[in-house]
Amino acid sequence: MSTQPGQPIALDPAQIYSALPNRGTMPAIDLVAEVPADAEVDTLIVPVFQGANGLELAATGSGLLSKEQEITLWRVLTSVGATGKREELTPVPGELLATEGTAPATKILALGLGDIDESTDEDIRELAGVASRAAGLGTKVVSSLGLISPEAALVGHALGGYRFAGFKGASAKDAAGQEVSAKDDADASDSPATITVLAREADAALLTQAQVDAAAVALARDFVNTPANFLYPETYANTIREIAEAVGLGVEILDEKELEEKGYGGIVGVGKGSEHAPRLVRLTHEPSADNEAPQVALVGKGVTFDTGGISLKPGANMWDMISDMGGSAAVVATMVAAARLDLPMKVIATIPLAENTPSSTATRPGDVLRHYNGLTTEVLNTDAEGRLILADAMARACEDEPDYLIETATLTGAQMVALGNRTPGVMGSIAFRDKVAELSQEIGENGWAMPLPPELGEALKSDVADLRNISASRWGGMSVAGHYLANFVTEGVEWVHIDIAGPAYNTEGAFGYTPKRGTGVPVRTILATLRHLAGTTKEG
Ligand code: BES
Ligand code: MN
Ligand code: ZN
Repeated sequence: MSTQPGQPIALDPAQIYSALPNRGTMPAIDLVAEVPADAEVDTLIVPVFQGANGLELAATGSGLLSKEQEITLWRVLTSVGATGKREELTPVPGELLATEGTAPATKILALGLGDIDESTDEDIRELAGVASRAAGLGTKVVSSLGLISPEAALVGHALGGYRFAGFKGASAKDAAGQEVSAKDDADASDSPATITVLAREADAALLTQAQVDAAAVALARDFVNTPANFLYPETYANTIREIAEAVGLGVEILDEKELEEKGYGGIVGVGKGSEHAPRLVRLTHEPSADNEAPQVALVGKGVTFDTGGISLKPGANMWDMISDMGGSAAVVATMVAAARLDLPMKVIATIPLAENTPSSTATRPGDVLRHYNGLTTEVLNTDAEGRLILADAMARACEDEPDYLIETATLTGAQMVALGNRTPGVMGSIAFRDKVAELSQEIGENGWAMPLPPELGEALKSDVADLRNISASRWGGMSVAGHYLANFVTEGVEWVHIDIAGPAYNTEGAFGYTPKRGTGVPVRTILATLRHLAGTTKEG
């Protein structure tokens, strides 16, 4: 697959993922104003809600069910005790609604919305996700949730239908293209095959945007879900190249020798303990048409595995550090979406990739590293490695003189202490920070603005270098890291730092449209921010 910038490409997620050794599946989504009478439907999703006098059908009169069928459905649902409360799922055999021997679907799935007057777009996204997960394997689903909000139904259904295939006996290729298992008969897909969303009007632009956004979130999830024995800097960079070139992004990759020569001391220092040498990937999106929009730089932390290095982490939960490249995954996925949608602004991503592991060649506590912009850091804890590679990447990104810099990273455990594991911490230039947090709230990733109190920046002074990489105190670790990064942003660049240590990776059960493991956060926050900035001009 090869296309020129700005040309449309096939919206087949499988093509986009072909470079990954294993991949998740996501249902194909479609938006229609009418479902053909002879369509084969496995599961028909019908929203219901808690009215003043008990269960009521939402979005009635869609043409999918006749008045008589709606009445029968209401009778069946109330007779089995369904109430319409939020997240209540009631399966009903389609046969019960058959007219002249023809059922509208094999199964009707009544989906409780709770109080419909209180429900927001995010509620609809979450409930669509819940319904996708309940719809069953390889099924053809039709959903009337789009009659309430087409955008929310499309996104929620697609994201909730994502499943990570994994390696369970299924055929998989490693990044070098070698077969890792001979068995290829297992069906890895257990998500619905297709989800057709019914809406008042089949808006093609809305559908395309939802498809591209959902594919981007799936791509970020796939990267995060891929174990570190497959995904290390070299294979990751090569995979990014394959995907990025396919959508018409400019690609540049620096290997360990070039990083050393060009003075990327932070990336080299973090990566030098591993046999898997570090990389720096740069992706460029040039819009096809002239525009007045500001130029944006994206930076994402790509630690393909974080053992802590010489300051080794404890064993318990170290496996979660497979997610320590979540920021980079979100940035790559956002760039792919920017190219596919031809967003009308120039965007350059700078993505540092390294594996943080102990060995006799690893950076030691007390070592001093020199960054790309000349600043030096005394490394007192090799587990505070993300900021070291981001420092170089942010300094490089600022050389392009962007108007805005959006950086995201699984940076600190302190993010989870402060905000829990579903709420990204958003720091940086005050007005831009607040805008990004607001947009993140709107799209349901729920980023929250956090301060950078000046005294926490003071705690990063070193006796022997410009900075130390940890403060002497336990408090405010998320903001301390934010302060550290601020040293690598050029004056005049509006910047934001999004700490996604918890939100990038779901270590508990699936909820709403969020599966286990990789979540794809903050892809949609960054996309919402780019769309917002595309509507502004350089002067603000
Ligand atoms: N990758 C971790 C942060 C992290 C922790 C992400 C848990 C996801 C889940 C980061 O590199 C790290 O180890 N940070 C240290 C910093 C400390 C040494 C100042 C931390 O948070 O403990
Ligand atoms: Mn670490
Ligand atoms: Zn880390």
